[in-house]
Amino acid sequence: MDNFSMIIFGASGDLTKRKLMPALYSLFKDERLTGDFSIIGVSRTDYEDAEYQKYILEQLHIFVKEEERDESTMKKFVGHLHYLSIDPAKEEGYPLLRQRIAELTKTENPDNLLFYLATPPSLYGVVPLHLKRAGLNTPGSRIIVEKPFGYNLESALELNRIYSSAFEEHQVYRIDHFLGKETAQNLLAFRFANGIFEPLWNRNYIDYVEVTAVENLGIENRGGFYDTTGTLRDMVQNHLIQLVALTAMEPPSKFDADYFRNEVVKVYESLRPLTEEDFNENIVRGQYMTEGDKKGYREEKGVNPNSRTETYVAMKLEIDNWRWNGVPFYIRTGKQMPTKVTEIVVHFKAAPHQMFKGTLGQHPRPNKLTLRIQPNEGMVLNLGMKVPGSGFDVKQVAMDFTYDSMDGKSIMDAYARLIDDSIKGDPTLFTRSDAVEASWKFFDPILKYWEEHPEAHLYGYPAGTWGPLESEKLVREHGAEWTNPCKNLTNTDLYCEL
Ligand code: BG6
Repeated sequence: MDNFSMIIFGASGDLTKRKLMPALYSLFKDERLTGDFSIIGVSRTDYEDAEYQKYILEQLHIFVKEEERDESTMKKFVGHLHYLSIDPAKEEGYPLLRQRIAELTKTENPDNLLFYLATPPSLYGVVPLHLKRAGLNTPGSRIIVEKPFGYNLESALELNRIYSSAFEEHQVYRIDHFLGKETAQNLLAFRFANGIFEPLWNRNYIDYVEVTAVENLGIENRGGFYDTTGTLRDMVQNHLIQLVALTAMEPPSKFDADYFRNEVVKVYESLRPLTEEDFNENIVRGQYMTEGDKKGYREEKGVNPNSRTETYVAMKLEIDNWRWNGVPFYIRTGKQMPTKVTEIVVHFKAAPHQMFKGTLGQHPRPNKLTLRIQPNEGMVLNLGMKVPGSGFDVKQVAMDFTYDSMDGKSIMDAYARLIDDSIKGDPTLFTRSDAVEASWKFFDPILKYWEEHPEAHLYGYPAGTWGPLESEKLVREHGAEWTNPCKNLTNTDLYCEL
């Protein structure tokens, strides 16, 4: 591993303590950071190096899994941390940053710099310009920027313009941590390393696809951010659509950054543009309401008590290409659901001729393949099998594979994987500028529609339930139903329109 310096903007924030430092520690513990490296935390809070190291050590004790904590390794790791208190929004701090990097790297012209923007999105357009003015956008540097990249299409285009004025595209790492998840990557191996699925992976054999990423927590302490962001920007425009791309993309002819990302962009560009009818019929927007001891969204700290920000979105997507024509992709995501689960469920068409009855006297259910991204990472294929004994009763059985059983290796954390890739200079799993733009082109009209139509439906759902019943209606039109990993919600009286 080469020597490098990572500069984290937003060093005293939530993301740094919860995700970035634990990920860097885990890379260090696994001896992936073997060179002479330094990490410089940058933010406005006042810390001396030693104070910052102490603070991060305390956070590691909280956010690193217990079985991975090793006191002496954690102490060695924090020995690589430094801190610079400047306001990243102001140009005047950047010469100090340059000087600090020069001192630490003992060179006037340091290279191999990784800038990580773990800041509020309002700084995404400011920092690269200041880095450029301070001459820190060196040819060997990379800039990693968190999502959401842009607030809408226009601001995403503007951000891309800013980044391309300071860095080459290959230096810009737009991070979407869902792509860092082992099981998301395994979807590619599953599809493209096995010959037996490819012939079935199309409109001739697949009836519909579900993509679900739901959480059983609310917005926690992120009210201010969430109320101006909402679920469409926070989850759908990036994480969910990435999962759709992995499921729907054509096999790249080579597995490298450009070939892979070209195929992702093609999926986004094939999404059927949404019409006014879709805004009303095929998109369900929800917001969680108080239930028992669970607070409603409008009661959360930092949220406008009359807020119409969505905490749930379900929608139907159509992909206009040869492979997927006529196969709906139903996607949904929400806060305060009964459980936390991310999975893709591929529903195959029923056998063309039904000779057997199931145990309940009905035809066996069609095959279903569940690709579980988290938790209990793995996959399940549902098949019809004959029930032993007389007659020909057919029952669905599940053939499953769990990641736990593979190689005895633990699953690498998504942030650790992506930070490792960015250190190595591999942008494959990061979003390219054209993909961000294509995704925004598709989703931007929804935001505009909601903005221009304050009367557009926003359905309330009680915290801890599966979301508005309208989302059931959405899939029922195709004769489909959502796969809810826990019990289905049946009490229809609990729903109301806000
Ligand atoms: C983040 C969103 O990008 O992803 C959060 O901002 C969300 O709102 C989180 O909770 C979900 O990620 P994961 O990996 O916990 O499923």
